[in-house]
Amino acid sequence: MITADMLCGRFSGVGAPPQVGIRCDGRHWASVPVTTDDTGAHFTCQLPPAAWPQSTKVEIRSVSGEDLYGSFTAPTRKPITNLHGLGAIDVLKHHPLPFSAVPYMSFDGARLVVTGEHLPPAGDPGALTVVFGPGVAYEFKYPLPSMAFGNHFWYWPNAHLSAFQLIIDLPACAPGSDPFRFRFEYSNGNPLDPTALQVGDVLGRQVFIPPRLDAGIGLPRDNTQLTRVQTWSSDQSVTVTGYNAFRAIEALLARHGVTHGPEVTILDWGCGHGRVTRHFLQNWPQARIHGTDIDGENIAWCQRNLTAGSFATAPLVPPTEYPAASLDGVFGISVMTHLTAEVQAAWLDEFARLLKPEGIALITFGGKGAAAWSTVFRGRDWWERWLETEFDDHQLDAALDGKIADKTYYRHTAQTAEYTQGFWSKHLEILEIIPDYIGNLDVAVMRKRRQS
Ligand SMILES: C[S@@+](CC[C@H](N)C(=O)[O-])C[C@H]1O[C@@H](n2cnc3c(N)ncnc32)[C@H](O)[C@@H]1O
Repeated sequence: MITADMLCGRFSGVGAPPQVGIRCDGRHWASVPVTTDDTGAHFTCQLPPAAWPQSTKVEIRSVSGEDLYGSFTAPTRKPITNLHGLGAIDVLKHHPLPFSAVPYMSFDGARLVVTGEHLPPAGDPGALTVVFGPGVAYEFKYPLPSMAFGNHFWYWPNAHLSAFQLIIDLPACAPGSDPFRFRFEYSNGNPLDPTALQVGDVLGRQVFIPPRLDAGIGLPRDNTQLTRVQTWSSDQSVTVTGYNAFRAIEALLARHGVTHGPEVTILDWGCGHGRVTRHFLQNWPQARIHGTDIDGENIAWCQRNLTAGSFATAPLVPPTEYPAASLDGVFGISVMTHLTAEVQAAWLDEFARLLKPEGIALITFGGKGAAAWSTVFRGRDWWERWLETEFDDHQLDAALDGKIADKTYYRHTAQTAEYTQGFWSKHLEILEIIPDYIGNLDVAVMRKRRQS
């Protein structure tokens, strides 16, 4: 049966395979699981979006391709659009990197279970694997159904097959192996877009599992405080995603010459309740770790609870009280994503003032990945205008209402990497921009301009 672009298949009798491979017009498209229940063995697979080479001849085969279970000619399908008239194809063209979220883990004393979601690379759930170093005993269950991703990523083929469970059997791991980190890898492509599989920087594809239980000790008990910093947060996701963001920032700082040591000074700009700062405090004990935020309530919480660090409330617009040329590193995660162009410019100038000559700024911004993510709420007009202007800071964000004096300050800001390269480089030298580096946020790596 085929409805819109979704192929729903069923095996009758016994002996259904655990997976099937779907071919469209003679080319591999996707491998999907076959699930068996009381009513029989079924599978679902979304076909390539209409208007992307429109497939006509569909074959259902074994994953190796050897056995043919069935074939048919698919009817012409209507293009997929969201509720606001935006076409899936228009979003996919600009956002080929699959998004992943790994927010949960549990530990039963022997096994670590890590759960999350990863969009099927180029729409093919069969193309995703995880890779550990040698000696790690694990089982990767993917794809599993995800209603949440299926709904949110309306434009991504087979997003309803995004969930995974990774079971790491610690007692069965070889002594000396490292079961606390893995990376996602993508194998062969499909007709969607082979460039989707070129994921660029492997740093951003790595996942780190906090190896210490005390990584999660002492979080705000007021849930509004947790979710003001990162929507939909829980104690677990704050710990797991915060640790991953720390490791991602640490790796990028190291690549640009900033590593842990005495006298090293780091500032977490827009630190919230210290979701990431806490891991610097735990793992960089010799360094001087500062955090600042315009949210005085969260800063007061950090001052009371993260006593190894120094925390100060930031003004809405700089200058801050930090001395000039005092920082080896400053990072800001999802802060520029909330500021107008003018306020962004003022803070970039402040970083230029605060950085030591060899200091590094790692500042994230909401680029194409984040804009694509937001299209569940956006229409065609917004998308087209944004692609043309490459910047939008019009939409207000109410998350800090009542916490800061100016109700128009906090925004939802979307900008392209091209815009960022052009405008931010007027203030700092941009060394590199890495797309989708932390979640769906791009990161700009910058340093003070050299005097000519
Ligand atoms: C989405 S939250 C991210 C918090 C934190 N960086 C993290 O990743 O957990 C954005 C934070 O930036 C803060 N913020 C916004 N504008 C700021 C500014 N100009 N200076 C310092 N903090 C700011 C907000 O109060 C909020 O805590």
